[in-house]
Amino acid sequence: MSADPAKGDDFRGPRHVAIIMDGNGRWAQARGRPRLFGHHAGARRVREVVEACPSLGVKYLTIFAFSTENWKRTQVEVAGLMSLFRRYISREAKALDARGVRVRFIGDRVRLDDKLIALMDHLEKLTEQNDSVHLTIALNYGGRDEVARATKRLAQDVADHKLLPQDVDEETLPRYLDTCVLPDPDLVVRTSGEARISNFLLWQSAYAEYEFIDTLWPDFTAEELARLCGSYGDRDRRFGAVKT
Ligand code: FPP
Repeated sequence: MSADPAKGDDFRGPRHVAIIMDGNGRWAQARGRPRLFGHHAGARRVREVVEACPSLGVKYLTIFAFSTENWKRTQVEVAGLMSLFRRYISREAKALDARGVRVRFIGDRVRLDDKLIALMDHLEKLTEQNDSVHLTIALNYGGRDEVARATKRLAQDVADHKLLPQDVDEETLPRYLDTCVLPDPDLVVRTSGEARISNFLLWQSAYAEYEFIDTLWPDFTAEELARLCGSYGDRDRRFGAVKT
């Protein structure tokens, strides 16, 4: 990345980075510790990465915290993760707000407990005027589930005569997605050596660049994010067109 994000004009780094934070379990197991130990270590990394965003010119950061498939994990792990999310939100709210971070949550809230939902609502409200970094946390999120929920709302608007079927095009559906106020991600990173997107931002990532890196999430650093942003700036994004 040759340009300085502070200078604006010829900045070529990613504005929106989305991260699949994978490898917490393996990180913990390699240390002979329970999987939740890895999730707690992973939560500490989130702070470092959010703090690095402004100097890298990353305005939007979206992180995959819990998928619609993660309910299949043991009851102990699921309960531990839910408790971690509650603690994270309670403990980090002030610091996030002080740093000017605007926090949003995407995903289906129906299976989340009331205490967690109240904390999420509070953090969204507390930070709604902020604009330094837009942090979106995907919680009980699945790309297919999001598209299905969006389609249901769209179909309801058609049934209510608010929308004509012939007016539905590829600009329409994104307005119903959880991410409707966000730009599409430029760069999607997955840690831990797995090369899958696991139902993350399926619609939104149509033209994203991907980085699959071996680092386990609890070992991920701001320096590594800077390196990925740098190599993104060297890529040639054509969005299906031919460069003339
Ligand atoms: C995947 O690693 C990680 C998760 C399912 C949870 C991600 C959660 C955090 C990083 C915790 C903090 C997040 C916030 C927002 C506080 P894995 O358990 O699948 O690892 P493995 O593939 O090695 O088993």
